[in-house]
Amino acid sequence: MTMETPSRIGVVGCGVMGAGIADVTARAGLDVRVVVARPGAVPAAHDRIRGSLGQGVRKGRLTDADLDTALARIEVTADLDALADRDFVIEAVPEREDLKTALFTRIDGILKDTDAVLATNTSSLPVSRLAGATRHPERVVGVHFFSPVPVMPLVELVGALRTDDTTRARAAALLTGPLGKTVVDVPDRAGFMVNGLLIPYLLGAIRMVESGQVTADDVDRGMTLGCGHPVGPLRLADLIGLDVVKAVAEALHQEYAEPLYAPPPLLSRLVEAGLLGKKSGRGFHSHAR
Ligand SMILES: NC(=O)c1ccc[n+]([C@@H]2O[C@H](COP(=O)([O-])OP(=O)(O)OC[C@H]3O[C@@H](n4cnc5c(N)ncnc54)[C@H](O)[C@@H]3O)[C@@H](O)[C@H]2O)c1
Repeated sequence: MTMETPSRIGVVGCGVMGAGIADVTARAGLDVRVVVARPGAVPAAHDRIRGSLGQGVRKGRLTDADLDTALARIEVTADLDALADRDFVIEAVPEREDLKTALFTRIDGILKDTDAVLATNTSSLPVSRLAGATRHPERVVGVHFFSPVPVMPLVELVGALRTDDTTRARAAALLTGPLGKTVVDVPDRAGFMVNGLLIPYLLGAIRMVESGQVTADDVDRGMTLGCGHPVGPLRLADLIGLDVVKAVAEALHQEYAEPLYAPPPLLSRLVEAGLLGKKSGRGFHSHAR
């Protein structure tokens, strides 16, 4: 069994998180292949990855030459079979269990190397349930990045009951080595550690706005100016994506059956209206696109 640090990376899904993961893995000098849902989605995926790298240039973390070098390491395709030669695949499609399990079954059948790691960036779904959709549950692991991926240092490493030690070690080697992330080992329970704490806080802020007694601006001002948080809870929910916040809340609610985790009606209405936060231009706040 090889213990080499993975170097041929596959990323499935190129939204907020997939684009960020493609950015950091290419920047780290790795060979990156990104799979999108259909051929028509390829140009938008390129734009999103370029946008993520461009943000690094604007903030002085990268030069224009670094950006070009990183982009040259990334191939975007709509062909899932292109993952066959990958030694580490990170799934970052929407937080829907049916979608993720169907993809896990397919990718498991495509990967040629039985040592290849199949990782999920799920925010909340127990990794064991996704591993159960494969013939090789020992190579399935959770790698929960935070947004924006190039900026946030933490990754939660989620070993499921049947994840083997080699898989955990290879995931940790990739994350802490070339990607330079700080890893915490967390239990395989809905929401893992950070979202188990963060989501009830965000839902509490949403309920406060829903009560009509305070505005989103005031809640955010309260937590930034009063508590020293770098960003307030409603703006943070917008940055995460309100559909993602709702999906994570539902997973927590399903697991623990606590009212604390139930998505407030206002959150559901915003998602149903397509007001998803920064990625759609409007959520609790308006965002320049
Ligand atoms: N947004 C966050 O802050 C955050 C943080 C950590 C983890 N996550 C998790 O990461 C995952 C992705 O979240 P996101 O915010 O990037 O979502 P997103 O909606 O921005 O992106 C998901 C992308 O996957 C694509 N997709 C759908 N089906 C696909 C398929 N079959 N094959 C390939 N691509 C497909 C969609 O078109 C979309 O571009 C979710 O599981 C989410 O819970 C999100």
